[in-house]
Amino acid sequence: MDSYRAFAAIYDDWASHMTEDVPFYVERARDAEGTVVELAVGNGRVAIPVAQAIGRPMLGVDSSPAMLAQAREQAAEAGVELDLREQDMRDFTLEEPAALVYCPFRAMLHLPTWQDKRKVFERVAAALQPGGRFVWESFVFNPHRAAESDGQWAVQAGIRHRIDHVPADNRVDITLESGASVSLWWATRSEWEGLVDVAGLEVEALYGDFDRSPFTVDSREFVWVARKPA
Ligand SMILES: C[S@@+](CC[C@H](N)C(=O)[O-])C[C@H]1O[C@@H](n2cnc3c(N)ncnc32)[C@H](O)[C@@H]1O
Repeated sequence: MDSYRAFAAIYDDWASHMTEDVPFYVERARDAEGTVVELAVGNGRVAIPVAQAIGRPMLGVDSSPAMLAQAREQAAEAGVELDLREQDMRDFTLEEPAALVYCPFRAMLHLPTWQDKRKVFERVAAALQPGGRFVWESFVFNPHRAAESDGQWAVQAGIRHRIDHVPADNRVDITLESGASVSLWWATRSEWEGLVDVAGLEVEALYGDFDRSPFTVDSREFVWVARKPA
């Protein structure tokens, strides 16, 4: 079943506010000497400008056929070559070691359990070349903002959706008017650090935003850069 089908239809509008991450990932990819991979590549929102910037094909993995169909279409329109693979990122493998694996727009949070996230970290660590990097981003759970939004309908780029928090499952459900929903399972700083640790990676940087400002107690985002030891 394609759990992202309903979001694929509205994804360009849904993600239209998210622009500041693209130059950040483009810069990371420009620095990467070797294969570049985007996990949960979606419709290519980030991968297409990244592939354009590095001037060579890159690999995108996603479990949603509907999102991948859009990525294929938009890459063709942009004249960009993407190697797109329909795959659950928990099963991600590569034939040749990668210099950079990245996972934008909170997509790691679609993995329900810590063990699911661990599988991805271990797969990424196995796929990276020594000195290669894993970069991902997530929101910092804020109980005050959660209390304000819980059970409320909101509008994002004209799309009405309801937000429901399930603290016992560290989960946020986003439901569209059609009834279709996706869930995000947020993680704490120490959980992310634990994932880096068990996978044998090292935290190279933790930013509080895509402008590379330092992470502080007031930060709303985790922007992580982990490195496989050389
Ligand atoms: C918020 S979108 C991000 C898409 C794109 N990376 C971007 O930044 O615009 C989340 C994506 O994660 C994908 N996804 C969710 N769970 C996945 C999994 N277990 N394996 C691979 N992709 C997954 C969805 O299909 C969707 O395309």
